[in-house]
Amino acid sequence: MTTCPLVVAPPETTANVTFDKTMDDRIGEVMRRYPTRRAALLPVLWLCQERFGWISPGVISAVAERLGDSPAFVDGVVSFYTMYHTSPPARYVLQVCTTLSCSVCGGRELVEHLKAKLGVGFGEKTPDGSFQLVGVQCLGACGNAPVIQVNDDYYENLTPQRLDAMLDELREGR
Ligand code: FES
Repeated sequence: MTTCPLVVAPPETTANVTFDKTMDDRIGEVMRRYPTRRAALLPVLWLCQERFGWISPGVISAVAERLGDSPAFVDGVVSFYTMYHTSPPARYVLQVCTTLSCSVCGGRELVEHLKAKLGVGFGEKTPDGSFQLVGVQCLGACGNAPVIQVNDDYYENLTPQRLDAMLDELREGR
């Protein structure tokens, strides 16, 4: 499996966001699938994260304006879900499941292994910007515990050895 690195717009380019025609059309297309503008908020945010790599305050304001909602409401939704990045993420975001099935199937050891290997804790990025560690609740793949989601891909039945191989592959872009 090849997990693609995230491409992230720097903060200075997302401080004030105006959607270009392509983006505006795509948002309009999403909105037409929902009965209300507010109901389209999650997929519109996802679209924005695909485009910018993260949801900056500028993106929040632009989305709020487009959907006719308040920035405070949009911000509340963004901050509720771990799938939205509220600061520029690393190239690879490692979302480690910390819920029971994964924890008792080796997840705890994986977390300790990752923290020691990368030298970072939950919520932190490695200094070279390659990896970011995030603790999350059940990823819905308990049958293959322990599980880590890397960007959009799942890595299942992990052991410290398989984890090391995975990190090497990601580092080398294989
Ligand atoms: S408990 Fe880890 S995927 Fe469900």
